[in-house]
Amino acid sequence: MKKHIMLNILLWTILFPLTSSGYDGTGRTLNLLYTGNLDGELEPCGCSPKTDFGGLARLSGYISEKRNTLSPYLLIDAGNFSADDNPQGRLKTDALLKAFSIMKYDSVSLQKKEASFSDNLVSALVEKYKIPYVSNRHHSKLSITKNRNKFDVHISAYPGDHEKNQLNILLTDLPLSECKEMQGWDVIINSSGEILDEPFSLKNTIIVTGYPKGEKLGILTLTIDNKGKITGFRHRWQLLGNDIKEDQKVRQVLNDYDSQVAGLLKETERPLKETTYLGVAKCAKCHQSFIDTWEKTGHAKALLSLEKTGKSSDPECLICHTVGFGEDGGFYSVATTPDLANVQCEVCHGTGKDHLMDFYKPMTPVTESVCKRCHTKDKSPDFSYKDYLEKIKHW
Ligand code: HEC
Ligand code: HEC
Ligand code: HEC
Ligand code: HEC
Repeated sequence: MKKHIMLNILLWTILFPLTSSGYDGTGRTLNLLYTGNLDGELEPCGCSPKTDFGGLARLSGYISEKRNTLSPYLLIDAGNFSADDNPQGRLKTDALLKAFSIMKYDSVSLQKKEASFSDNLVSALVEKYKIPYVSNRHHSKLSITKNRNKFDVHISAYPGDHEKNQLNILLTDLPLSECKEMQGWDVIINSSGEILDEPFSLKNTIIVTGYPKGEKLGILTLTIDNKGKITGFRHRWQLLGNDIKEDQKVRQVLNDYDSQVAGLLKETERPLKETTYLGVAKCAKCHQSFIDTWEKTGHAKALLSLEKTGKSSDPECLICHTVGFGEDGGFYSVATTPDLANVQCEVCHGTGKDHLMDFYKPMTPVTESVCKRCHTKDKSPDFSYKDYLEKIKHW
């Protein structure tokens, strides 16, 4: 019996020299705090407590508060942190990198998303904010070496670029299937958007993935011997919930971003198209009883929710919290189209213009798919058509 157990343990140590639990080797430790595939996410929208995780102010707050227990650490982003190349996405990417510089990221990696900007905006910004970066698209900065806890750590974005006698970390968005075939890397931090709940360890390589949109911070604790070889590791996710105190410096960056976004909605650029939406005040003339019921629902206060968080001029929020934002004759801004604020009648019933010509011509039928335009999994995880319909009943 005893022999059997001994044999088992022996087999396990031969087959799995790196184990994530119960490792009893010696050596010093180094924490890799990593993000990847943030996809321009500055902070969660707050639409539902169930999806209220992540955000750069919390990330920075967490690291500052736990600095002593986390040290020595390297803070790394594996790439695809940028938003899209449009006016709002550019402001977002700028704010994100400003926040990275406040947090003193040790390295970021420029991947597909970063390279998609027409004018190399992202490399210009990382240089402006003096953030160390690697990229396999800019040959001058393929890799960097950081010294932490007396270890030389070689960080690169190019799969063929590992060094001898250093700890080698690859930051890449190549598919996990390809990463699993690579050799020479101690750690691969992946930003392809694929998710590994636990690290994948194979031969001498540990593979982890950034958590999409930064809902969680990855913490990989390496135990390293005197020769710089990894002898064990532990891994955990730090969930970034609203219990974490925000870093005020990063909060300021996010608030500045909100003001800049508000400036994007220039009154002079409002499309002065024919009005197709009438607004609830017009419906009230003939349907007062329905309006009384509607006013008691959250739909009637949807813009207030944005005002409370300083987001009442953010197109990315207005699209679901007003009537017809982005459409001809839809909501544009509180100043120009106050009548179309909030989630009104016409969001569900269709524009009222034709209705006034002929009251008996049926309006757009309201079905579940109408609700799901806004009540998505991410924004409204508790949505159930039956229960939610009951709550807005006005008929
Ligand atoms: C895809 C549509 C959609 C977008 C985009 C959206 N929201 Fe929402 N939001 C909703 C829905 C639907 C709810 C109600 C969720 C529920 O109760 O199930 C909601 C609820 C909220 C609430 C909670 C209101 C309360 O007090 O209960 C806040 C705050 C909020 N949103 C803010 C924002 C902000 C800020 C943005 C932009 C960053 C945003 N939303 C973008 C659909 C959206
Ligand atoms: C244009 C986007 C949009 C559409 C379409 C939409 N909603 Fe909403 N809904 C919202 C937003 C935004 C909120 C959050 C309002 C707030 O800020 O509190 C919300 C909140 C709610 C709430 C919770 C608020 C309350 O009063 O308790 C219910 C229930 C709801 N919606 C039901 C529905 C149903 C049912 C449909 C389809 C028939 C629907 N919604 C269609 C955007 C929408
Ligand atoms: C979130 C979606 C939604 C909003 C907002 C909404 N309704 Fe409705 N409305 C419905 C649904 C669902 C029904 C019932 C199904 C149907 O008859 O199409 C309905 C039914 C009605 C009916 C028909 C009643 C009957 O007896 O057939 C009227 C009239 C009406 N709504 C008016 C309004 C007015 C006025 C507003 C704005 C104050 C409004 N609705 C806002 C979804 C909505
Ligand atoms: C001048 C009066 C008047 C105005 C303004 C008006 N309606 Fe109506 N509406 C009617 C009449 C009349 C009917 C048909 C009789 C009935 O069912 O009450 C009707 C029926 C409806 C119905 C149920 C029939 C269907 O096809 O689904 C909905 C929904 C509705 N109106 C929504 C609206 C909305 C939304 C607005 C504002 C954009 C609006 N109405 C503005 C008079 C009006």
